[in-house]
Order: sequence, then C-alpha cells, then structure tokens
Amino acid sequence: MVILKQPDEIVKARAGNRIVAEALSLLCEKIRPGITTRELDRIAEGVAEKRGAKPAFKGYRGYPYALCTSVNEEVVHGMPSERILQDGDIVGLDFGIYYQGFYGDSAITLPVGRASDEAIRLLRVTEESLYAGIREACPGNRLGDISAAVQGTVEKAGFSVVRDFVGHGIGKSLHEDPQIPNFGKKGRGIELKKGMILAIEPMVNAGTYKVKVLSDGWTVITQDGSLSAHFEHSVAITDNGPEILSKVN
Ligand code: MF3
Ligand code: CO
Repeated sequence: MVILKQPDEIVKARAGNRIVAEALSLLCEKIRPGITTRELDRIAEGVAEKRGAKPAFKGYRGYPYALCTSVNEEVVHGMPSERILQDGDIVGLDFGIYYQGFYGDSAITLPVGRASDEAIRLLRVTEESLYAGIREACPGNRLGDISAAVQGTVEKAGFSVVRDFVGHGIGKSLHEDPQIPNFGKKGRGIELKKGMILAIEPMVNAGTYKVKVLSDGWTVITQDGSLSAHFEHSVAITDNGPEILSKVN
C-alpha cells in the first residue's frame, strides 16, 4: 500500500532529508586519499548528533553503522572499517536519518583523489540516470516511466543496472511501497500521485548487472569485479513536479 503524505508531513520529511544532504556535502569536503571509511562514518554520525537526529541505518536489521561505504566493485551496503581509501578509488556514501517521525535517505558516489576517466564517466552517467528518473516523478506519470528513464540513460552509455536491489517509497518507515526498480517499461506500473515520497536509487555497474552478497551478510559486490556506482535522492511528488528533498537549500 502506497502512503500519500500531507503537506505538513512533507515539511518534516524535508527537514530530515536536509540533514542527510548536509552530511553528504560535508563528506564531499572531507574525502581524500588516506582517510578511512570508519572516519567517514563518524563524520556522518556527528552531523546527525549535532542536529538532534537519529541515524536511520544504525540498528536497521542489525546493521552496525550510520553510513554505508561501498568502495570500487562494492555496489551497496559496504561497511565502514579501518580500510584506507586510496588515490583512484571510488566510494559510494549512503546515509539515512530519522527526524520528526520521518525518514530521509540519499547517496552519492565520489572519486578519491584522481579516478580514471572510465570511473568518472560511470559516476556521471549514474548521477544523470538518477536525474532522468527524477524528471519523470510527476503526478499522472507511471512508475515505469521512472524505471525506463533510468535504464535508458544507463544502457545508452554501455553500463548496466542492478536488478537485485531497488528504490523504495519512504516516510514513517525507511522502506515503504512502492518498490522502484531501475529497469522497466514506460507506461507500466502504478500511477504516480501528489504526496508520494520516493527514494530513487540507481545502482550501476560498469560490467555485468549481476551481483553477490559477501559472507558478512551486507556487502554487495559486482559478480565480475567491475566498478559500481550508486546515487540516491528522496523525492516528493508535487503539483509542480518533483521536489528533491535531500538537497541542501
Ligand atoms: N539506501 C539504502 C536503502 O534504501 C540503505 C539501507 S542500508 C541499511 O535501503 F543498512 F540500512 F540496510
Ligand atoms: Co534507499
């Protein structure tokens, strides 16, 4: 069941998502070769503390950290550790907040120092595919319009979209209906309505779309070891079209 949000609820969801955005933009400033993924986790958690918000992922199904840090061939749900980021790595940073009764969720993938041209192209295409999906988040469109826009952008560039993990509705729960695949057909699926909040999150691999989960039970990696990128925004559907909640300003 898809839960529509009232304007006052969107105000609350916006407030939490802005804290997520603040944390991710601080991480953008702090990222450099030599920093550990655990330090990034502490920085993100520090922003939550400072704002009186709860990190949404910590304790979620037993996940032990505030942030997910997915390096190179790690797709999503990489766990912070003493791993030192190296020049040329790419790292996905996924952060969630619970604030005023609502969840916020957003992710970016950043180059560490100087990444290869192909890695940078992967990041650019993945972010573009997110925005192509967001542009379809309008009342009267269909869920499949978002999925098809993401998939089209990715495959035109020669990359592949992960099938085993999808985006989601978000609100009083971190994961609500509908599921939002990053692949699908225009015109299919439920009708999009004013008051929906959608976490759209393309996960894009340079090689095969196939993934596997490591024995830690969390870390998802590409089956062929190719690079992977992940971008995510929480987006409210309004009469004026999509409003990206997880953005600073
Ligand atoms: N953005 C991810 C999601 O929507 C993050 C979840 S990580 C977890 O599910 F640790 F909370 F599971
Ligand atoms: Co999400």
